[in-house]
Amino acid sequence: MKTLELDIRKAGVSLTDELKQQAQAANALLESGKGAGNDFLGWVHLPSSISDADLDAIEQAAAALRAKADLIVCIGIGGSYLGAKAVLEALSDPFRLLHRAQQHPTVVFAGQNISEDYIQALMEAAGEHSLAAIVISKSGTTTEPAIAFRLLKAEIERRYGKEEAARRIVAVTDKARGALKKLSDDEGYPTFVIPDDVGGRFSVLTPVGLLPLAAAGVDIRALVRGAQQMEEATGAGVPFDENPAAIYAAVRNALYRSGKKIEILGSYEPQLQYVNEWWKQLYGESEGKQGRGIFPASVTLTADLHSMGQYIQDGERTLFETIISVGKPQHEIMIEADGENLDGLNFLAGKRISEVNRMAELGVQLAHVDGGVPNLRIEIPAIDARTVGGLLYFFERACGISGYMLGVNPFDQPGVEAYKKNMFALLDKPGYEEESKAIKARL
Ligand code: PA5
Repeated sequence: MKTLELDIRKAGVSLTDELKQQAQAANALLESGKGAGNDFLGWVHLPSSISDADLDAIEQAAAALRAKADLIVCIGIGGSYLGAKAVLEALSDPFRLLHRAQQHPTVVFAGQNISEDYIQALMEAAGEHSLAAIVISKSGTTTEPAIAFRLLKAEIERRYGKEEAARRIVAVTDKARGALKKLSDDEGYPTFVIPDDVGGRFSVLTPVGLLPLAAAGVDIRALVRGAQQMEEATGAGVPFDENPAAIYAAVRNALYRSGKKIEILGSYEPQLQYVNEWWKQLYGESEGKQGRGIFPASVTLTADLHSMGQYIQDGERTLFETIISVGKPQHEIMIEADGENLDGLNFLAGKRISEVNRMAELGVQLAHVDGGVPNLRIEIPAIDARTVGGLLYFFERACGISGYMLGVNPFDQPGVEAYKKNMFALLDKPGYEEESKAIKARL
């Protein structure tokens, strides 16, 4: 069964042969490795190259942490955070923290900000739990996770001693370089490798995403299976008309060329909110460069119809919208008739809530299209591990194709260094003396 269908009938784009050829050529470049950024194409065949032994090793490390801790803090930022967060939120009960008896250890995240209050609240809550940590950083030198890890490491060592800490901390990092690799070797932490040729935002199907997800009890084999199926369905040998990733990339580029500079990704299922966040990094970092690129924005529906709905319907006409539409909810709830009908909702009695949600989705789509907002729909049958795995790979593949069609290197991120230089200069990092003087004079 297909995990995804792309419906572009309301996108208002006619796919010319030229556009199709451009998309096919861009997809072929991903496989030939002759395009820009070709050092970072390890994600292209990643799903099909994950072995049972790889998955066994990840599951064993996750099981060891689960056996020891009921709170596992996953430390990382950007590509070393968003994939795991997105999948975990998509597949989890949103009220899991309210259940007294939890089946799995709770996985929470740190190192994705530098907020003192966030870390304080986490440390206080952690006091009530047995604790373990997964620290993820490809470079091993990223400031935010390094600060959080310093604190968590100290807490784990204080509680359990250094020897036991080495059984409660697992690192995911470069195979040879960086401060985290050295520290892990010195302390004897088990480590997993982030392949050299997989950039952060494409790393969700490496141990970066799979280890924390396995620790949280997610079926990572199903996730990988879904991605494998999508790898096959989007390969360079697949004809354009049958390849959803090529079609999505072509439609996005056609819309961009026609002046639609902002893409809003949305869903009517709030568990997908962090898939939006992951997607924003994937597309924003991959395409936003050299003065080009669609700005990736997101909404969670229907909530944001009551905040952003006005702009989308009626504001500047530079938008298009992509909706992840979920075929089947996991649960069934009927709206009951009410004897008094004071709220006037008896016309909905006997309908499922999902039917109301679906009519909202269809009604909004038509209203937005009428308002000049082209609409794409990505239909997934349900939110489960296999489908989500397919969805992630679909977006990755389409992003590579789309970036090449745009004429940029989708696999670098030169722009993210600028703020770091300023921050280190302001914090008087050794080696930044000249920059420190200059920047402080500008404050
Ligand atoms: O996509 C990227 O490269 C970034 O978002 C990184 O993933 C992020 O900065 C974290 O980097 P690192 O894993 O080196 O700590």
